[in-house]
Amino acid sequence: MPKGRLIISNMISNRLYLDYAATTPVDPDVVAAMLPYFTSAWGNSSSIHAAGRTAKAALEQSRNTIAESIGAEPSEITFTGGGTEANNHAVKGLAFAARRKTGRAHVLVSSIEHPAVLASAESLKEHGFSVGFIPVDSVGRIRLDELEHMLTPETCIVAVMHANNEIGSIQPISEAARITHLNNSLFHMDAVQTLGKMPLCLHDLEIDTAAFSAHKIYGPKGVGALYIKKGVEVDPLFHGGAQERNRRGGTENVPLIVGFAAAVRKAVELRQRVQDRLSGLREYLCTELAKRWNFVFFNGDAANVLPNIVSISFDSNTISLDGETLLMNLDLRGVSASSGSACSSGSVKPSHVLQAIGRDDATARSIIRLFFGRERTQAEIDSLLAVLDAIFADHHRE
Ligand SMILES: Cc1ncc(COP(=O)(O)O)c(C=O)c1O
Repeated sequence: MPKGRLIISNMISNRLYLDYAATTPVDPDVVAAMLPYFTSAWGNSSSIHAAGRTAKAALEQSRNTIAESIGAEPSEITFTGGGTEANNHAVKGLAFAARRKTGRAHVLVSSIEHPAVLASAESLKEHGFSVGFIPVDSVGRIRLDELEHMLTPETCIVAVMHANNEIGSIQPISEAARITHLNNSLFHMDAVQTLGKMPLCLHDLEIDTAAFSAHKIYGPKGVGALYIKKGVEVDPLFHGGAQERNRRGGTENVPLIVGFAAAVRKAVELRQRVQDRLSGLREYLCTELAKRWNFVFFNGDAANVLPNIVSISFDSNTISLDGETLLMNLDLRGVSASSGSACSSGSVKPSHVLQAIGRDDATARSIIRLFFGRERTQAEIDSLLAVLDAIFADHHRE
């Protein structure tokens, strides 16, 4: 058995799971809320008979819950098949509708967006749009001065994520949206990593669209939502029936949507308590890492960061490991962590986020992301530190 293997109880599958930005388990209360919509109330929400009406009532109740939790109107919520779809829908749907109306065909996205936004923007090039990438500073916050310079009379949309999924930096959204609107352009925010973790009031933020996902907050996978501010035009991605106010054809997945709403309800109810506790764990882990190992350094903005995440890199002159090898070593010892977005995890490409904050390629390959969930305890952080101790000792260059 490798040195320092973890033996921890009360853990998912007897492992120390520290990859809650990739996904979370589904909360038992969420499973309980969903179950009747699989087994007894399984009607199609578009049917006019009693079974349909029951499903429709659950659908609309869920929409109300989610809208209320983010400071929006229920009519501004469109259910989707997850965060990737919501981002695709926003970026492409806003761009196509805006070009039709204004003739503008220039899109700006931050350079640290999730691939769901980056690839959506890239795909617009094939349709005659031009795309620019807004730089970030060394802690991963977008450069508002650069945004101002990059906006042109041709810019139809700007997309900036609320908080980054690899390093946790929270973006100056209100300011970015204000600058964008002064140019009469539209503003999209990917809020997949902040829903349920930060208080959100979309009307106050004055953004036009926002993307959400259920499975980052103990809800089911494959369901999310797109907020579309009243009066903003977004072309549909899926054509079909008149569901979701003609915005997304296809029968609504009522059980998953009910689960999404239950997950949001619980996340909001627990938020303050959970986030206070996780902030404490984060501080403890950062202090211990800094105290023990001078070759470890932190990525992100300590003053504006999600309380759940610690993103570290290490000096490859001192430690003979890259991030992927460290992740494999952690995995062998029972710790599940990752280097960034689940999609790029498993590849050896340097992180585009670390490149954007100015790290060289070797350092950009050495990122690991430790992301806590509700279940995590200080004793488990101590176990993690013991495991890292063993791995670093094995790979220290003399
Ligand atoms: C910031 C961000 N946006 C979008 C997504 C995609 O969401 P989904 O997995 O629901 O498609 C993720 C998932 O990792 C994410 O972290």
